[in-house]
Amino acid sequence: MTALPRSAPVAVVGAGAMGAGIAQVAAQAGHPVTLFDAAPGAAGKAREGILANVARQVEKGRLPEGAREDVAARLEVAPALEALGGAALVVEAIVERLEVKRQLFAGLEEIVAPDAILASNTSSLSITAIAAGLKHPERVAGLHFFNPAPVMALVEVVAGLASDRRVLDTLSETAREWGKQPVLAKSTPGFIVNRVARPFYAEGLRLLEEGAADAATIDAVVREAGGFRMGPFELMDLIGHDVNFAVTRSVFEAYFHDPRYRPSLTQQELVAAGWYGRKSGRGFYDHAPGAVRPVP
Ligand code: NAI
Repeated sequence: MTALPRSAPVAVVGAGAMGAGIAQVAAQAGHPVTLFDAAPGAAGKAREGILANVARQVEKGRLPEGAREDVAARLEVAPALEALGGAALVVEAIVERLEVKRQLFAGLEEIVAPDAILASNTSSLSITAIAAGLKHPERVAGLHFFNPAPVMALVEVVAGLASDRRVLDTLSETAREWGKQPVLAKSTPGFIVNRVARPFYAEGLRLLEEGAADAATIDAVVREAGGFRMGPFELMDLIGHDVNFAVTRSVFEAYFHDPRYRPSLTQQELVAAGWYGRKSGRGFYDHAPGAVRPVP
């Protein structure tokens, strides 16, 4: 079992919260990293955010002097998907929609080398389904980071039906080299963490909808009495309701509408309003700079 060499080029597609975090992790580990996003300007903005983040870590003494310059030298933005052709590993972190991911993987297959690994950061979609229809489904696997990717140690390495064992081993070893703790999971809906976490969000939402207590109270109880770092509403605001709702829907669909996984109408309304949480400034909490307080 060998990890990718540090000199191996890594590409990240999707420069949102997760793609930016993954690009930072790979660049800090020493890889040349290329970041691409379909939204004009998004990858450039993400690069600036990554460099500011690394600079803050240097100021706090958590990263060595010069880390920002090192990451800046290794991290570039791609003007088009075609620029990712030299990557040994592509990590996809785009919108959580199967058809969009499948289309992207079909495009990637046309431009990368025959031995390149194609990984998806999907939270809940079937790796088997993402890989199906490709010429080389055996080189596809899940590489599922948690938010924020530079901080959270756990990474789920997810095996689809066709995934090659050597690809899974390389991803696990590479994640370890990146300072992460990989765990191997089969491609079931939600894998391990998002499956176990569904009732955490769902029961919080049900309590809120039944009027048992407000979001801030439930969060405080779970945090302070339960010992969790965040309550369900804080965590959903961090993840993004657009992403979290899409994951719930996908797990619900995949389990043949098992009522245990039924999505919440409250969350559906937040998504409809564009109140995605931290990333849009408002969710269950008001995230305007200066004060994080519950939305009345
Ligand atoms: P996000 O909404 O912050 O970013 C997604 C980015 O992908 C956007 O910048 C968008 O412009 C870009 N994009 C969309 N379609 C594209 C395409 N066809 N080609 C290139 N770029 C495209 O989403 P986030 O939160 O970063 O999630 C991304 C993926 O990671 C999803 O699959 C999600 O389920 C997964 N994930 C999310 C976590 C979270 O806590 N937010 C945690 C772990 C996984």
